[in-house]
Amino acid sequence: MPIAHVHSYGCQQNVSDGEKIKGMLALMGYGFSDSNAEADLVIYNTCAVRENAEDRVFGNVGALKHNKRRRKGMLIGLCGCMMQQEHIVQRLKKSFPYVDLIFGTHVVHRLPELLYQALSTKERVFETPDSDGVIAEHLPIRRDGTLKAWVPIMYGCNNFCTYCIVPYVRGRERSRTSQEILHEVSGLVSQGYKEITLLGQNVNSYGKGLEEEINFAGLLRKINGIEGDFRIRFMTSHPKDATPELIDTMAECEKVCHHLHLPVQSGSDRILTAMNRHYQREDYLKLVDYARSRIPDLALTSDIIVGFPGETREDFLKTMDLIQTVGYDSLFTFIYSKRVGTKAAVMDDPTPSEDKTKWLMELLEVQKKIGEDKLKEYVGKTLRILVDGPGKSGEDYVTGRTEQNFIVDLKGPADLIGNFVDVRITKALNWALLGELL
Ligand code: SAH
Ligand code: SF4
Ligand code: F3S
Repeated sequence: MPIAHVHSYGCQQNVSDGEKIKGMLALMGYGFSDSNAEADLVIYNTCAVRENAEDRVFGNVGALKHNKRRRKGMLIGLCGCMMQQEHIVQRLKKSFPYVDLIFGTHVVHRLPELLYQALSTKERVFETPDSDGVIAEHLPIRRDGTLKAWVPIMYGCNNFCTYCIVPYVRGRERSRTSQEILHEVSGLVSQGYKEITLLGQNVNSYGKGLEEEINFAGLLRKINGIEGDFRIRFMTSHPKDATPELIDTMAECEKVCHHLHLPVQSGSDRILTAMNRHYQREDYLKLVDYARSRIPDLALTSDIIVGFPGETREDFLKTMDLIQTVGYDSLFTFIYSKRVGTKAAVMDDPTPSEDKTKWLMELLEVQKKIGEDKLKEYVGKTLRILVDGPGKSGEDYVTGRTEQNFIVDLKGPADLIGNFVDVRITKALNWALLGELL
């Protein structure tokens, strides 16, 4: 049996594509290895969102040269968002002659055909068309987990935030029909999956362009109606499209987790406008207030970009103020990274990168304290967790997540894994909670 090694570098959408790639390879007769050392086929499924993601891929592809020398007939394939950028493909063509197959985000479903071409002609294959609008349904999927599953509900993005490459590499927004989604989720639940995460770059614009009359809140209600003991998560919600209807739906649907990832990016109105985000600080804070009034135990998380072109110390302090005002449970923070072809790439960017790094450190320091205080609020409370693996706190521990997505370690037998259990929180560590089984 030939062995494939498939590695996905990017967001959950990218990981989900990787699961389809593995599904197709499995049907083609491949087995799998977690290491590239004994692989006959290596596929790197790349991410283009920041420069360091791209650098990592180039480094790892460079290292494969040696594998190829050692292993005759080995094939190297690259796919994912980086491959939708002409300048990247040109660089790979020229400087990485040992890469055999390059395919883009719109032709993942054609992998069997493209791989056959590479194997039978022994020539390099490049297939990175820009055309989109295609949703390839019913591909085989080889999922990474047995408890938690990713389910894309839409592809692409129409928002063109000025810093972001995603709309260029993923194409225009398009939604799957609710019938296909419901069919997939029902299948997963009957196979024993306990947590379904619905994916889209902006799930709140789900349904646009479909023949059926449906929006994201409507889809959530339908999925919530599927029988079985499981949880629903979703990401990502763009604040400009997160409506009171969405919040009400979250409050009313018992399977939908009380966690909202609501990327704010910046606390400065001037920067939000320059980012093309279509909301201002006050709109965002109003939405947060409404969400908390309807769902008091809601966990809120966000993405922040530090050092957008033209961001001043004053703008940055507004972001600091916003994170203190909101009090996020956790944050994903990034230093702005210039992406070729985006509008922000040609904006003036006078702030030295050392300043940006310093600002980011300041922000992380403040958030650390906020996050720790949030965790402490849970001590003494009873929470339901999905036990999902062995614990870190000792040999006889298991671990799981609350619906707010906090990690809880507790003493308990391994056969709890895969079950929902009620836990009383006894202690807050700085990375997780400790609890005892009720
Ligand atoms: N569609 C999602 C996010 C996709 S990218 C949304 O709109 O929220 C995930 C995060 O990466 C973004 O929220 C942003 O914070 C960050 N990001 C995107 N482009 C970036 C860039 N050029 N530099 C730094 N961070 C970036
Ligand atoms: Fe990028 Fe903005 Fe689209 Fe998110 S909404 S993927 S940040 S362009
Ligand atoms: Fe990266 Fe593409 Fe996702 S750029 S973040 S893998 S959509």
